[in-house]
Amino acid sequence: MSKRVAVVTGGIGGLGTEICKTLARAGRTVVATDLAAREDRIAEFRRDVEGLDIHFEPGNVGDYEACGALVRKLEAERGSVDILVNAAGITRDTTLRKMERTDWDAVLNINLDGVFNMCRHVVDGMTSRGFGRVVNISSVNGQTGQFGQTNYSAAKAGMHGFTMALAREVARKGVTVNSVSPGYCETAMVMAVPEEVRTKIVDGVPVGRLGKPSEIARTVEFLTHDDAGFITGANIPVNGGLFMSF
Ligand code: CAA
Repeated sequence: MSKRVAVVTGGIGGLGTEICKTLARAGRTVVATDLAAREDRIAEFRRDVEGLDIHFEPGNVGDYEACGALVRKLEAERGSVDILVNAAGITRDTTLRKMERTDWDAVLNINLDGVFNMCRHVVDGMTSRGFGRVVNISSVNGQTGQFGQTNYSAAKAGMHGFTMALAREVARKGVTVNSVSPGYCETAMVMAVPEEVRTKIVDGVPVGRLGKPSEIARTVEFLTHDDAGFITGANIPVNGGLFMSF
């Protein structure tokens, strides 16, 4: 069997890079996609993943037509997209009373529309081939809500609703759809939270520290395995115990 092809959106980001590396080490051909404008980061990413079967394709998940073109290109060049990890995400944190319409639109467009835009274009190929793994990177803050994140919490909660609905639609075709909900991890996104606010949050994490991107990546790799076909519509929290539920 040829190597499974995985696409990771937000692939050069804090979690995305580690997800790409973990999937490649597990024997997948990986295509990271991210905004072409992040030139410095792209160069750093290429150095970071040297020697691994990881490639880069520019793309904007917020643009429906561009996602279609990207998926068609990858399927033509590589034969299939077997695994899709939707890890592209942004924040525009501010309380609702100060939130501009643009802060709302930007977060919903990348974090939630982006999941639709990519899934809409990969799902037919996956179902027709009888195999697919979709993992949506949601957030603990979609489960609990977070002060200053009405936009982000809404998008992240919406991602899991989408996950469950799509999981039902494709379950009989060998395609699983799951969410992973990270807690606060060692990423630039979390480090941008003011230090005093961040310290308070970490104090409330039972494990007593930030998560490592590799701890999220390990969970994603598990869900994308060929043998993980009976897990679908699930949300796997990886949050150091910050939010416990069943
Ligand atoms: N709960 C209750 N009250 C709070 C609060 C909280 N968590 N945080 C601040 N407040 C209070 C303040 O004490 C202050 O009260 P007073 O007006 O009585 O003094 C008031 O709310 C401040 O309100 P403002 O609208 O002026 O807010 P601000 O401009 O000071 O800051 C903020 C708002 C930028 C959102 C800041 O609180 C913040 O950065 N919070 C962290 C948000 C966060 O956790 N983001 C996660 C980013 S990482 C990520 O998202 C990854 C992931 O998935 C986990």
